[in-house]
Amino acid sequence: MGRTQTQVGIVGAGPAGLMLSHLLHLHGIESVIVEARSQRYCEERIRAGVLEHGTVEMLRQTDVADRLDREGMRHEGIEIGLNGHLHRIPLTEITGKSITVYGQHELVKDLIARRLADHGEIRFECGNASLHNIDSPHPFIRCEREGQVEEIHCDFVAGCDGFHGTARSSIPELVITCYERIYPFAWLGILAEAPPVREELVYMHHERGFALYSMRSPAITRLYLQCAPDENLDEWTDDRIWTELQLRLGCSDGWRPREGRVLQKGITGMRSFVVEPMQYGSLYLAGDAAHIVPPTGAKGMNLAMADVFVLAEALRAFYKQNSRAKLETYSSICLRRIWKAQRFSWWMTSLLHLSPDATPFDRRRQLAELDYLTSSRAAAASLAENYVGLPMEL
Ligand code: DHB
Repeated sequence: MGRTQTQVGIVGAGPAGLMLSHLLHLHGIESVIVEARSQRYCEERIRAGVLEHGTVEMLRQTDVADRLDREGMRHEGIEIGLNGHLHRIPLTEITGKSITVYGQHELVKDLIARRLADHGEIRFECGNASLHNIDSPHPFIRCEREGQVEEIHCDFVAGCDGFHGTARSSIPELVITCYERIYPFAWLGILAEAPPVREELVYMHHERGFALYSMRSPAITRLYLQCAPDENLDEWTDDRIWTELQLRLGCSDGWRPREGRVLQKGITGMRSFVVEPMQYGSLYLAGDAAHIVPPTGAKGMNLAMADVFVLAEALRAFYKQNSRAKLETYSSICLRRIWKAQRFSWWMTSLLHLSPDATPFDRRRQLAELDYLTSSRAAAASLAENYVGLPMEL
C-alpha cells in the first residue's frame, strides 16, 4: 500500500479541485489531487462556457489567464428573444463589467498544465475513492490506482468531486440539510462546426420551447434546445436538431443560425440543489459537490471558483496565521453567494422555459415578466448585475 502525507487532500480534478490546488500552491500550501477519470477525459468533458467578470479577474491575478486572454471571447451584452424578436441587454453599459465565453474544458486544460508545470500532484485514474476519519483532525483518502491501494493522509479534505461524488455522501445525513428542486425539462446541447453568425449569446423564449445560441471559438457554435427530461437522444437526428433550432432561433429580421457538422451532442438535466452546511469535521465541500444550478445563466463553474477562493483564503489563514476563524465561516460565506446565484438561475430558467406544469395564469405572468425585462432599464440592470456576477466576498 502506498501512503502519502500532505496538507490538503483534494478529491476531483475539475475546475474546483484544480483551482483550489493552484491557489494553495500560491499560498505555499501542499496538496494532492485524486481523480477517478483519465487526464484526457477531464480535458475533453464539454460543459458550459461563460466566465463571470470576477472569475476572469481571479484567473488573471493568479497568472493562469494567458490563453484565456488570447482565445476567450469577451462579450459586453446578451440578447433576450421573444418569439423571434431580439432585445439586447447591454451588460457593460449597465455594470461596467463584461463576461468571457471560454469552454470549461479549456480552463481545465490550462489549470492541469499549470499544476503540472509547478510540480503539483494530480493522480488520475484513481478508483473507489473513500474518505476516512473526516470527523478528526487526521482524515485520509483511500483509493486504488493500477491495482494498488493508496492512502493520502492530510489535515483537511476538499470534496471537489461533483454532485455524484463520494465526498458529500461521506457526511452523516443527520448533520446536513439538502434543498432541491427538479425541473420538468432538460437541455439538448450540440457543438457544431459552424462559425458563429451572431456576436452575442441569444436566449430565446419560444412557443416551441427555449433555445440558446452560444459559441466556443470563431469556428465553433454551441446551441441548446429545451427538451423533455427523459428525451431519447437517438430520436434526435442532426437534421431534426437543426430544423428545431431554425424554428426556435430564426428571427423576424431574417437572422438564423448557420448550420454545420454536429461534433458532439448530449442531454443536460436541470436541477437546483444546495447542501447546508458545506463542511463537516475536516471535510470542506466545494463546487458541484455542494450545489447544482440549472444551466440557464451558466453560473455553475463560477460558483465553484468563488467557493475555492474562499476556501484557499481560509486555509491560508489557518496555516500562516494559525487562525481557524475563516474555516469556521467558510460555509456561511459561500452560501450567501450560492443562494443568490440559485435565485438568479431559477429565475432565468423560469423566465425562459415553457413548463408543462404552468397554469394559464403562470403563462401570462411569464410573458409579462419578459415584457417587463425588455422594456425596463431597472429590470435589465438586475439581470445584468447578476449575469456578470455578484462580487466575491471573503
Ligand atoms: C452556455 C451555457 C449556458 O448555460 C449559458 O447560460 C450560456 C452559454 C454555453 O455553453 O456556451
